[in-house]
Amino acid sequence: MKITIIGAGNVGYHLSQRLVEVGHVVPQIFSRQTNKAVRISRIIRANPIDNISSLQDNSNLYIIAVKDDAITSVAEKMRKRLPGNTWVVHTSGSTPSTVLAPHFNNFGIFYPLQTFSINRMADFLNIPILVDANKELMRNKLFQLAETVSPKVHFINDEQRAKVHVNAVMVNNFTNHLYSIAEDIMRKEELPMEVLIPLIQETSKKVALYPAREMQTGPAIRGDDATIQRHLEFLNGYKNYKKVYEMMTESLKKMHNSQHPSS
Ligand SMILES: NC(=O)c1ccc[n+]([C@@H]2O[C@H](COP(=O)([O-])OP(=O)(O)OC[C@H]3O[C@@H](n4cnc5c(N)ncnc54)[C@H](OP(=O)(O)O)[C@@H]3O)[C@@H](O)[C@H]2O)c1
Repeated sequence: MKITIIGAGNVGYHLSQRLVEVGHVVPQIFSRQTNKAVRISRIIRANPIDNISSLQDNSNLYIIAVKDDAITSVAEKMRKRLPGNTWVVHTSGSTPSTVLAPHFNNFGIFYPLQTFSINRMADFLNIPILVDANKELMRNKLFQLAETVSPKVHFINDEQRAKVHVNAVMVNNFTNHLYSIAEDIMRKEELPMEVLIPLIQETSKKVALYPAREMQTGPAIRGDDATIQRHLEFLNGYKNYKKVYEMMTESLKKMHNSQHPSS
C-alpha cells in the first residue's frame, strides 16, 4: 500500500519505518519541523514535507500521528489538499475516530498499543494494533494492513478503545510514575536504584502469566499495619509521595478485603 504519514514524533518515527520494512511505500512524511521529517525520510526514502499544502493526493491511506489535540486541525488542513473520500486514520488511543468525520467520509483508527520513544527500538511483533473504520471495506483493509505490521490485530470500536486506553494509562503511565517516585527517593537517600530493577522485571513477567490480584504481596494485603506505619513515618519527609502510598494502600486493602471478607 502507499501510505502517507502525518507526524514525525515517536509513533510517526517507528510506524513509518515498520511499514516500509514490511513492504509498503511511504511517499511522504510530514512534520512542521523539517529536520524531524528529514531524519526519518533518510531512513525510509520518503519525501519530507513541512507544510500540509505539499501533500500529494495519490496515497491509499493517510495516517495522522500528531498529538491528540492537533488531530482535528490537521485533518481540516488535509481536507484542503485531499478529496473527501480519501482514507484517513489517526493513531490516538483516546480520541474518537469521529473527530475525522467532519472532513473525510472514510475514516478510522490505527492504534498501536505500546509506549514508543524514538531512542528505543519498537518490536512490532509484540505490539497489538487496534483498528476500526466507519465503512466495512476500509475496516477490513485496515485489518489486513495491520496484519502486515503485527501478528496481534484487533477490531476495537471507539467506545471500547476509550476503555482500553484508561487501562493503558493504569498499567503504563501510573506504574512508570511509581518508578519515578522510587527513583527520586532512592537518589535523595543515596541508595542504588539498581537493587529494585529485578523486582520490577519479575513483577511484569508474572502479570503475563498469572492474574495480578493473585500475585499481590506486601504489607497492605498481609495486614502488617506496624510496617505500614513505619513506611508512613518515613514518608513524612516526602509529603506528596505519602499521599500516593496512602491511596494505593487503601485501594489494595479494599480489593483484597472484597475477595477475602473474613481476613
Ligand atoms: N507515544 C506513544 O507511546 C503512543 C502510543 C500509541 C499512540 N500514540 C498516539 O500517537 C499520536 C502521536 O503521539 P507521539 O507519541 O508520536 O507524539 P509526539 O512524539 O509528541 O509527536 C507529536 C507530533 O505531533 C506534531 N504536532 C503537534 N502539534 C501539532 C500541530 N498543531 N500541527 C501539526 N503537527 C503537530 C508534532 O509535530 P512537529 O514535529 O511538527 O513539532 C510531533 O511530530 C498521538 O495521538 C498519541 O496519542 C502515542
